[in-house]
Amino acid sequence: MEVGAQFGDEGKGKVFDYLAADARYVVRTGGGPNAGHSIHLPEGLVVLHQLSCGVLRKGVVGVCGPGMVLQPFALEEEIRELERRGLLLGEVMISDRAHALLPVHEIEDAWQDDFRARRAPSSALGTTRRGIGPAYADRAARSGIRIADLDRPAVLRERLEMMYASKTHLTNLPPIDEMATRLAEVGGRLAPLVRSTEPVLWDALARGERVLLEGAQSALLDLDFGTYPFVTSSHPTSAGALVGSGLPPTEVDSILGIAKAYTTRVGGGPFPTEETGEAGEYLRRVGGERGATTGRARRCGWLDLVLLRYAARLNGLTSFAITKVDVLGGLDEIPVCSQYVMPDGSTVRDVLPAHADEMDRARPVYERLSGWPEFHAHLRERLRREGASALPTTLRRFLDHIAEETGVPVEYVGYGPGRDETLRLPPVAARPARTGVAAWSG
Ligand code: IMP
Repeated sequence: MEVGAQFGDEGKGKVFDYLAADARYVVRTGGGPNAGHSIHLPEGLVVLHQLSCGVLRKGVVGVCGPGMVLQPFALEEEIRELERRGLLLGEVMISDRAHALLPVHEIEDAWQDDFRARRAPSSALGTTRRGIGPAYADRAARSGIRIADLDRPAVLRERLEMMYASKTHLTNLPPIDEMATRLAEVGGRLAPLVRSTEPVLWDALARGERVLLEGAQSALLDLDFGTYPFVTSSHPTSAGALVGSGLPPTEVDSILGIAKAYTTRVGGGPFPTEETGEAGEYLRRVGGERGATTGRARRCGWLDLVLLRYAARLNGLTSFAITKVDVLGGLDEIPVCSQYVMPDGSTVRDVLPAHADEMDRARPVYERLSGWPEFHAHLRERLRREGASALPTTLRRFLDHIAEETGVPVEYVGYGPGRDETLRLPPVAARPARTGVAAWSG
């Protein structure tokens, strides 16, 4: 399985797409239209919001898993758009247990974040306003509508009434009759794609087929283990991916953490290595750091090993994919945060403070690694031809540094948006000692 190891936007789409080539099933395990997985195909850019990357590959089934909250109208449009572009080469399968995210949730999400912002601008989460929090809240309150309920008119009506009755503070909701009709209609159109997906996956694994779990969002946005309350409302960790797919832990054979060579964040919340000046602007410009879902400019800063160590332990990562190393090409030196110093003088190396305001006060301590050359056409061509042996030595040192400092080997490197701009590094003979990770706690 693969999970994000920072605050989201690590270039997961590109890595999922690369790995999907060898899979039979690729399963999105959580979140919903808040995600934006960008994949640069020879035919042009595709941004998948709710569909799994598997749908772009012939012979692959892209599953919208049970842990997702799906906006059915937008999902239908996403499928149609791919069909129109001739890019829906795989199959789409939708879990009957996934929850439906409705316009009422989108309206409630905006209402809640506006309310927070009015009370104190710094408390606004800056959500994607796609309705994620309210949809998961209704799921937990057991008043949610599941995809399987869309073609059960009595259940649909009862749940809608319950939902509307609990949201009387919202004034601009679409009329309930109209909503019930539209949901039943879209449910009917999507019905041929809806299945109980867990037995399909269990059977596939029993036949020895490869199943890839595609985590959206990231460890630091996890509802429990992220920078609460500046988090999303799902569990984008390896444990969450299992709950969100219905697969047991005994089936997992690798957990790949995806991280950018620097750090970005969209929305509010602590970000110790954020660069608000020229350096941040440089990363934003060269890295094209703008949200794929909302178009918001991403906050940018340097690589933070505290976050990576935390994500490594939280997820049990077995390897890393480090993306966008080309963005840092041409810099003389690369600052890398090795630890935080807290206001009381204590240091933090791999365990995040539970309170977001404490993390806000963390001061990053940097090591400065040597930079590597710009990724001009000649270097890209050599990497395509010769593979990992053509990586600049200083970049190799940067990747080794990440492995040494986190106890997790780097397995993949992304050096551009294209499908062929990912390298697999030769396997590491022995995994770096994890005892080092334990020693960092405290
Ligand atoms: P929500 O998931 O829309 O509720 O947003 C909660 C927080 O998670 C906000 O800070 C969002 O910017 C962030 N977030 C949600 N999804 C993504 C994503 O796919 N990439 C990056 N940030 C995300």
